[in-house]
Amino acid sequence: MGKKLFSDPKLSENGKMACITCHLPQKGYADNVVLNLDNQGKPLLRNTPTLINTAFQQSFFLDGRSNTLLDQISSVFTNDKEFNSDVHKFSNAILKDSTYTTLFKDAFGKISSNNTDVIKAISSYISTLNGFNSKFDKNIRGEENNFSDEEKLGYNLFMGKALCATCHFMPLTNGTVPPFYTETEKEVIGVPETAENRQLDDDLGFYWSFKEPLHKGMFKTPSIRNIALTAPYMHNGVYKSLEEVVEFYNLGGGGGLGFDLEHQTLPFDELNLTTEEQNALVAFMKTLTETVSDVY
Ligand code: HEC
Ligand code: HEC
Repeated sequence: MGKKLFSDPKLSENGKMACITCHLPQKGYADNVVLNLDNQGKPLLRNTPTLINTAFQQSFFLDGRSNTLLDQISSVFTNDKEFNSDVHKFSNAILKDSTYTTLFKDAFGKISSNNTDVIKAISSYISTLNGFNSKFDKNIRGEENNFSDEEKLGYNLFMGKALCATCHFMPLTNGTVPPFYTETEKEVIGVPETAENRQLDDDLGFYWSFKEPLHKGMFKTPSIRNIALTAPYMHNGVYKSLEEVVEFYNLGGGGGLGFDLEHQTLPFDELNLTTEEQNALVAFMKTLTETVSDVY
């Protein structure tokens, strides 16, 4: 039922927007555009993230403004720029579609009278979007032994010299901290406004929460699983390629680029990676593509 609801535009007030409008299965549940459009045709504030493995986080939205997946999904409904739908209004539109009758009965034993069950169903569906069957997973589990020398070098750099795994923790490659996974960390890395790397982006991220200078430009560390499918990158979609992302880190992030970033949590120092090493990091990241068994 969650899967059907995920692609159903009847959930939105204008009848035109569904989750799948921005989270496209064939694009790693992201959309390959810098910024998608709201229901007025205006660009959204941020780039669309993947939904694969999204359930394995303790913090949702790039600025961490939801603590649960249920809360995250219900904000899509109440956002006037997205579904903009009143609890009762949308459930009526859904209930007129008789194909949902059996689905509701099977899932909840009754036809629900408000959106809580609809949100639960969508959340259950999203929690199934996990693969853990990438080339990396198969190699690390010893099921395959076909990592190239370049991919091995990239993995070692990711875990070591390039410091990536100090924020993108294994095995999820996001900010959810092993071994207990009870917290998802946020960081300040100083992403620029444009790919020319001249000016700091003005999105303040997690600063919304406490209005602490320490949190200016702080964002959740996202997963880099399936990253080959989800260009462009960063909260503002500033970088078109993984090569550009690696170059940004190699220069020391925003601090290394000379932006005024007292509270950057990424070390300012250049990583001094050779071209070969930068390419190896990209090659490693491309081994993180999963197959999610889901056909629409
Ligand atoms: C108009 C485009 C659009 C639509 C429609 C949309 N999303 Fe999103 N989604 C986004 C963007 C953009 C973000 C990131 C926003 C931010 O972080 O401020 C996001 C974030 C998320 C996240 C958080 C991911 C994370 O890692 O924190 C989840 C989960 C999610 N969306 C699920 C859904 C579901 C379920 C629906 C349908 C009920 C939906 N989205 C509809 C664009 C969209
Ligand atoms: C200090 C913590 C930190 C370190 C170290 C770090 N990252 Fe990140 N990474 C982040 C955060 C936070 C973001 C999101 C920033 C944003 O959107 O503004 C991010 C974003 C990314 C993205 C884009 C993800 C997306 O979906 O758009 C990629 C790719 C990435 N990092 C790869 C790397 C690689 C490769 C390294 C090592 C060279 C690395 N990261 C080191 C914290 C870190």
